[in-house]
Amino acid sequence: MAVVDRSGDLSMYVCLCNGVTDRQIREAVCDGVKSMRQLRQCLGVAANCGRCAPHAKELLDESQARQRFEDQFSAA
Ligand code: FES
Repeated sequence: MAVVDRSGDLSMYVCLCNGVTDRQIREAVCDGVKSMRQLRQCLGVAANCGRCAPHAKELLDESQARQRFEDQFSAA
């Protein structure tokens, strides 16, 4: 399910139980979240039914990879 967030950008709900979007997960990674445990503590992702866990983990890994890539280029 897609949603237009406060900034007017299109986001996708990842965790329906807690109303967490892909954008919130990416922002959490930018703010230093590094694991599913931290994501659960921070946003509540996968804290109820757990159906969102596989997609949340994909987003976590993808966001971390993107951040490492950007860090490499900003350091160069
Ligand atoms: S959809 Fe995330 S805990 Fe249920």
